[in-house]
Amino acid sequence: MNLLLVLAHPDPRSFNHAIARTVERALTGNGHRVVFRDLHRENFDPLLPAGEIPQSASLPPAVAAHCRDLAEADGIVVVHPNWWGQPPAILKGWIDRVIRPGVAYRFAESDSGEGVPIGLLKARAAIVFNTSNTPAERETAAFGDPLESIWKRCIFDLCGVKRVERRMFEVVVTSTLEQRQAWLAEVERLCTDLFPA
Ligand SMILES: Cc1cc2nc3c(=O)[nH]c(=O)nc-3n(C[C@H](O)[C@H](O)[C@H](O)COP(=O)(O)O)c2cc1C
Repeated sequence: MNLLLVLAHPDPRSFNHAIARTVERALTGNGHRVVFRDLHRENFDPLLPAGEIPQSASLPPAVAAHCRDLAEADGIVVVHPNWWGQPPAILKGWIDRVIRPGVAYRFAESDSGEGVPIGLLKARAAIVFNTSNTPAERETAAFGDPLESIWKRCIFDLCGVKRVERRMFEVVVTSTLEQRQAWLAEVERLCTDLFPA
């Protein structure tokens, strides 16, 4: 399979980077082709300019390349920390610029944009790995776990990705080395469950 891996974290020594490296190793080990997009390493510009909003816009080569990677992916893996209940700004900008009309969704004929979009992505499965310093029960009780609906409902379901898994690892700041190693083993298992050899 052709898989897209998107990572948003500025620190190569972070647990998020360890997750992404584990994902890449597991998936290539299973025989898949992995396109690994480390947004900070490539200094992805997250600002959507006005001229790029229309579906017919001509895109800068860097954005067009991301759109191609997304459109060609049979499966998608996203790795990022919970920052204010949201993806980091660099990833929010990737969503704004790359998950765009004509690539990831479209509106039906006679629909001026007010209707329910039709998903266009060919990817049938996606998995989102998040890290957080808030215990899961508190994230849900106090904040409604916004990342769950952002990824599952607002983005992947709308774009036609039917199977979406998500795993939030918490609490990272107090975790032991053993705990993080066990989490990475879980990352490997979850990747293999979704994208087997
Ligand atoms: C700008 C910023 C915002 C953050 N917001 C939250 C938050 O809303 N909830 C939370 O549990 N942790 C929050 N954190 C903590 C990160 O989620 C945590 O540091 C990260 O998941 C740990 O993984 P890492 O070692 O890969 O960075 C925030 C951290 C930063 C830098």
